[in-house]
Amino acid sequence: MSAVHSEFAHRLAQMRPSTIREILKVTAQPEIISFAGGLPAPELFPIAEVQAAADVVLSRDGRAALQYGPSEGVAGLREWIAQEMRARGIQAGADDVLVTNGSQQVLDLVGKVFLNPGDVVLTENPTYLAAIQSFQTLEAKFVPVPTDEEGLIPEALPDLIKTHRPKLLYTIPNFQNPTGITLSASRRAALAKIAAAHSLTVIEDDPYGKLRYRGTEVPPVKHWDEAGCVLYASTFSKTVAPGLRIGWVVAPPEVFSRMLILKQAADLHTSSFDQRVVHAYLTTNNPAEHLEKIRAVYGERLGILQEALGAAMPAGYHWTKPEGGMFLWVTGPESLDAMNLLQRCIAEKVAFVPGRDFFPADGGKNHFRLNFSNSTPERIREGVRRLAALCRAG
Ligand SMILES: Cc1ncc(COP(=O)(O)O)c(C=O)c1O
Repeated sequence: MSAVHSEFAHRLAQMRPSTIREILKVTAQPEIISFAGGLPAPELFPIAEVQAAADVVLSRDGRAALQYGPSEGVAGLREWIAQEMRARGIQAGADDVLVTNGSQQVLDLVGKVFLNPGDVVLTENPTYLAAIQSFQTLEAKFVPVPTDEEGLIPEALPDLIKTHRPKLLYTIPNFQNPTGITLSASRRAALAKIAAAHSLTVIEDDPYGKLRYRGTEVPPVKHWDEAGCVLYASTFSKTVAPGLRIGWVVAPPEVFSRMLILKQAADLHTSSFDQRVVHAYLTTNNPAEHLEKIRAVYGERLGILQEALGAAMPAGYHWTKPEGGMFLWVTGPESLDAMNLLQRCIAEKVAFVPGRDFFPADGGKNHFRLNFSNSTPERIREGVRRLAALCRAG
């Protein structure tokens, strides 16, 4: 029997069911070799260290840790993050840092600060699926920015800005999700300059920047942001653990104060306990050492994936060459229907995410995303062997 409800809100009308959520249900079965989700390797989670940090927090600071806290976040953690920001080339103090429920909440809050129904967001095309969903709930429109192997092309922006009057530009400059592409330094500087010239607010979403396995680090777009129009978001999800749900944004005061009001309305504050556990973890261990460990394992897995694809994929398929992150993006021949390939792959117990979900409008039919952080080398080799056989079969 179906329940009776009031009419649902208009904002749900343009939201599509996500293929990835359906796929993730299938990939939960252990016999499936999954290149699908964006999951870190759970065997690398610092479980003992987080447990020790939780003990320290409860014994030293239990009352505050279990109490309501400030919406801005716990002071010590905000200090730590501000210092990390300066190490990444961003001039920020603790007061500029808002701690959030993962960086996903940053997208929700920034969207709510700036977007009215029908407002335009410029994005890379393809872009992060849950960013599309987040802005869709606010009934935004999407306009893609032309991109190539160095990321979005800043020279294309002035015309797009003139034509569409966008409220926001959303970019993932490091090892982009889903393509793995990194925006070059010169383009970052150009983007900051164009944004300033046109008073365009940029959301720089950087969950993967610390996961670099090759090449040299590039400073964030925010590093070149003299006008204060870039909001920089990052997270501990990929460097510590996503289940903790601790992310942050660095924002100028006029945006910060508005996000803070909206955060109060959304959840009052991010878990006092989890924030303190993360802070204790960071200050009683050597997080750089843990990061080195993750980088070594993921870098090896990326190399194995590339080698396996190179050895087995048929002509007509090519893929990106990420220098970090968790994803690689495959483009097949025009005739490829990645949804259909996925169905055949699932029958062979292999999964990936078809490109479709990453395009705000049309596109993606002959693309798919492969995650390499969550599978062992043996499973990567075997998964690619099965995938390539199905691609060859056409
Ligand atoms: C580009 C991008 N932004 C944001 C997020 C959300 O991360 P979290 O909310 O765990 O910090 C992800 C997660 O995969 C992502 O890929």
